[in-house]
Amino acid sequence: MLDEQARDRVIVAIDCDRQRALELADSLSGHAVWLKVGMTLFYAEGPSIVREFKERGFKVFLDLKFHDIPHQVRGAARSAALAGADLMSVHGLGSGAMLAACREGAEEAAAVRGDRPHLVAITVLTSMSQDSLTEIGVSDEVAVEAERLALLARANGIDGVVCSPREASRMRELVGDDGLVVTPGVRPAGAELGDQTRVATPASAIESGASHIVVGRPITGADDPVAAFEAIVDELRAVE
Ligand code: C5P
Repeated sequence: MLDEQARDRVIVAIDCDRQRALELADSLSGHAVWLKVGMTLFYAEGPSIVREFKERGFKVFLDLKFHDIPHQVRGAARSAALAGADLMSVHGLGSGAMLAACREGAEEAAAVRGDRPHLVAITVLTSMSQDSLTEIGVSDEVAVEAERLALLARANGIDGVVCSPREASRMRELVGDDGLVVTPGVRPAGAELGDQTRVATPASAIESGASHIVVGRPITGADDPVAAFEAIVDELRAVE
């Protein structure tokens, strides 16, 4: 059951404390394929939380959005990959040299663990507006800047991008058929939006070109997280 494509497309964002994270992992075991660990959980628990999810059979998206000098990012990517991450994020804004160093770090780990984790680049954070770009000295439009960074990432060995579902179809064109397009900001019809504003449904995100969707609170905050997860998989099966 777990090798099914629809199931493999849903990454459950586990943004909570360790105890709740492990409860959710135990209940989603045998249903979900992917869990996402972000900075809040990672900085509290460290690499052990990745290992605990891996021991339960999950693939882990370690979403730490690396951004530093190339030497540091190479080391970060290597360490995160050795902790067991299957997918990791890096800021496109850090330069082609930094993106290439991220890929090198992942490859160094692959020589030890046997496979290379996939890498996705953040282009322009969806929380940033045109004014935020101007504030940091970028005069291009958000879409133009995002496209430039997506191409830079692909040219430097990064497997794909993280973007809003609204940008997914353009990003799919840029990263190619084999590139990864990972979209948060996904809400099943009728779900609470929380702090997300520009949202898409799971099916429409995939139809727009996403390879994977990131869904957090609609699953983790549901009375029955497994039922909420399975409803999303059902929705995706209909568009596969
Ligand atoms: O609970 P929710 O479905 O909103 O969780 C979405 C996850 O994706 C969170 O972990 C959030 O940090 C992450 N994310 C996002 N928007 C972005 C990038 C990442 O919501 N632009």
